[in-house]
Amino acid sequence: MLLEIKGLKTAYGPVEVLHGIDLSISEGEIVTIVGANGAGKSSLMRCISGVQPVTAGTIRFAGADLTARPDHARAALGIAHSPEGRQIFLDHTVEENLDLGAYHRRGADLGEDRDAVYALFPILKDKRHLQAGGLSGGQQQMLAIGRAMMGRPRLILLDEPSMGLAPVLVDQILSTITTLRERGVTVLLVEQNAYAALTIVDRGYVMETGRIAMSGSAADLIADPAIREAYLGA
Ligand SMILES: Nc1ncnc2c1ncn2[C@@H]1O[C@H](COP(=O)(O)OP(=O)(O)O)[C@@H](O)[C@H]1O
Ligand SMILES: [Mg+2]
Repeated sequence: MLLEIKGLKTAYGPVEVLHGIDLSISEGEIVTIVGANGAGKSSLMRCISGVQPVTAGTIRFAGADLTARPDHARAALGIAHSPEGRQIFLDHTVEENLDLGAYHRRGADLGEDRDAVYALFPILKDKRHLQAGGLSGGQQQMLAIGRAMMGRPRLILLDEPSMGLAPVLVDQILSTITTLRERGVTVLLVEQNAYAALTIVDRGYVMETGRIAMSGSAADLIADPAIREAYLGA
């Protein structure tokens, strides 16, 4: 297993919001988490990248116990997080934002990595010297994914990458995720359009109020009547 989570709990102040999550991902898999607003999907991703402390449980990555390691150490080990709401620096250029994704590789020659991002998203190359605040929503999301790629991750956490985008861009972002897999990156995806996500992933977990309610292959989840009714608008 590349990522192995056992019994993970977290809380905001006195309020526990993850109540013991077990989740595993093999190298090269694309896995999605399906769940209603407030189920705890983003909190789980924040626990994995290390920006949210855990109160119980363990997170193992590539054989190492990460549970007590800070976020920058996890980035250096190969975990990249493209958070909900993108969190790019609007008053910095596209290129500066990309380079921030490689902060733990300071001093490295980043040209090759930028070129790999520009190959994925050519529009970012055209706009590389412009401020990120001038990009469209779709381009900002490409930048957020590109920035995560700059860390040369083995695992990328994508939290609602198509939020607020027009349907045509949603398709483009999702097909990019398939390309990430071809580059050998393992992906954990949270996507408001759960059906679209399930069409491109290998497996999925269903989260309900801080617990894993179900997991299975994408095909099994799509075929499940309760899942269809609750999450797939069918
Ligand atoms: N910064 C925070 N402070 C307090 N409660 C939070 C915070 N972030 C999320 N929560 C709460 O944690 C629970 C899970 O939220 P979240 O992880 O954002 O779910 P999801 O991403 O599935 O919508 C919700 O009840 C939410 O209100
Ligand atoms: Mg969320």
